[in-house]
Amino acid sequence: EDADRPKSPAPADIFAQTVTAVKHYTDRLFHFRITRPASFRFRSGEFVMIGLPNAPKPIFRAYSMASPSWDEEIEFLSIKVRGGQFTENLQKIIPGDTVLMRRKPTGTLVLDALLPGKRLYLFSTGTGVAPFASLIRDPDTYEKFEEVILVQTCREVAELTYITELVDGLKNDPLIGEAASEKLRLHTTTTREAFPRMGRVTDLIRSGVFFRETGLPLFDPTQDRAMICGSMEMLKDSKTVLESFGLVEGANHAPATYVVERAFVG
Ligand code: A2P
Repeated sequence: EDADRPKSPAPADIFAQTVTAVKHYTDRLFHFRITRPASFRFRSGEFVMIGLPNAPKPIFRAYSMASPSWDEEIEFLSIKVRGGQFTENLQKIIPGDTVLMRRKPTGTLVLDALLPGKRLYLFSTGTGVAPFASLIRDPDTYEKFEEVILVQTCREVAELTYITELVDGLKNDPLIGEAASEKLRLHTTTTREAFPRMGRVTDLIRSGVFFRETGLPLFDPTQDRAMICGSMEMLKDSKTVLESFGLVEGANHAPATYVVERAFVG
């Protein structure tokens, strides 16, 4: 709507928040946390537009909240694109810096966009895992599903560190530790570096390797639900795969058996 209108440092429709933590995982991936405005509410899995204040005309990009809706801070996961207009600067932030955030969160990777079911599959590549890092920390996810299977495919092993550490830590979480220990499974794969499980998740599902390795049954549209977050190509391929099992795409206004969202790409 007003994305292209020049802005003074912090116009009324934009929050100016403080960076509280930054962690770099690889030369392509980092995460950061910012303070949360008291009035900012979102549903786990949604995204918001964020920007940097010092650009002559702030550029905004869509970023999924990786933190759950109850968290007192907001966490984001970002790629670093060499020469990238936005991430070239964003990757330099340190605690104390200011990050701008638009007021209205939105998105389709929300529990409300899915019909009730037994299993929830969360398929991601790279930073596409961010909305799922939020959802696996939301108690509602475990109230609605008996099993939650989070899948992330990355190029390199080090890119899996963020989600692996997060899931490991969840087991001791006072709020959702018990539910997560009982219901959450993480299945990670790589495509460009040696790892016990290799291959794109789409290929692994098509070949049946995914079902053999996890011991899970073939997808069943009467009880399985899925969310997908990755690049345009990954979404396209994943949709084809899920639809071959009879799953149907849903949206906020029309819940169905799977939903998709494009991960931030640069
Ligand atoms: P690959 O190494 O075979 O391209 P990126 O870092 O480029 O966003 O990719 C993240 C991960 O997503 C990589 O492991 C990549 O595999 C994988 N990937 C890329 N395209 C697709 C696709 N169409 N379907 C499934 N996975 C994909």
